[in-house]
Amino acid sequence: MIKKAVIPAAGLGTRFLPATKAQPKEMLPIIDTPTIQYVVQEAVDSGIEDILIISGKGKRAIEDHFDRNPELESRLSNEEKEQLFEEMRHISDMANIHYIRQREMNGLGDAIYYAKQHTGNEPFAVLLGDTIINSAIPVTQQLIDAYEQYQSAIVAVERVPFDKVSRYGIVGGKQLSDNIMEVTQFVEKPAQSEAPSNLAIAGRYILTPEIYKALEHTPKGKNNELQLTDALMLLTQTERVIADTIEGKRYDIGNKLDYLKTIVEYGLLRKEFSDPFYHFLVETLAAYGNAKKPS
Ligand code: UTP
Repeated sequence: MIKKAVIPAAGLGTRFLPATKAQPKEMLPIIDTPTIQYVVQEAVDSGIEDILIISGKGKRAIEDHFDRNPELESRLSNEEKEQLFEEMRHISDMANIHYIRQREMNGLGDAIYYAKQHTGNEPFAVLLGDTIINSAIPVTQQLIDAYEQYQSAIVAVERVPFDKVSRYGIVGGKQLSDNIMEVTQFVEKPAQSEAPSNLAIAGRYILTPEIYKALEHTPKGKNNELQLTDALMLLTQTERVIADTIEGKRYDIGNKLDYLKTIVEYGLLRKEFSDPFYHFLVETLAAYGNAKKPS
């Protein structure tokens, strides 16, 4: 059974400056809920009981968010705002959350390596702290199900249009069934003509303890950082690595345009805003269309 998860959240978030100059991008709200709260909720909904957040400089707001806030709770209970009170309590009771600080931003692979002692000999889930996935079955649960069948490292992938493969980490290998591939290749941002498939790495993984040995033997890669995909590529030489095409829609909050799209979609999905927001969008698009068409 997989009970532990690691959430890397130490990155600098340079793609989202200036918003991320003094606040973590993982705290950027989707309407009223910070991105990382969705990520923790997905882990909890998948049966995870213990979460290690890889934190770093300027990330205190994440710890404060999952901590109790007695002053706020007492104010809410005095004002008889029971529902808000319960919501605030729920956030601090979601899971057993631990923190470790990544000392230098040396890449996702380096961030994961900080979890070595905490996860020990157990397989564990990894959920990127800046990526949310809207799905009927939590994606981490989908990966845990695949792990139970294959007993090896599992990488979540999603189909992307072929003309967009150059934006993603792409996997290639032998298709074992409709949604399962045995991976032999990880290619970072390939040209369309060189992409082995259109299956893009989606920010969720199940890793086995063997990943730590692979990380130790992985040289620094792109941006002079230790890349998780390079370590996974190395792992394929000694172990089976499976790509599972997940059911769900992924949103990368660390990218400004994707963030904007996420807010719009989640706004439309939110019951209390759905109707007025839909009408606002229709009116705005009509007015915008009359005034100026995007080039
Ligand atoms: P990104 O690849 O988006 O990198 O990280 P980044 O450095 O945060 O962002 P940009 O590219 O500068 O805009 C994916 C996830 O991995 C974490 C990030 O916090 C994010 O949740 N991460 C990345 C780390 O924890 N440590 C790192 O050294 C790099």
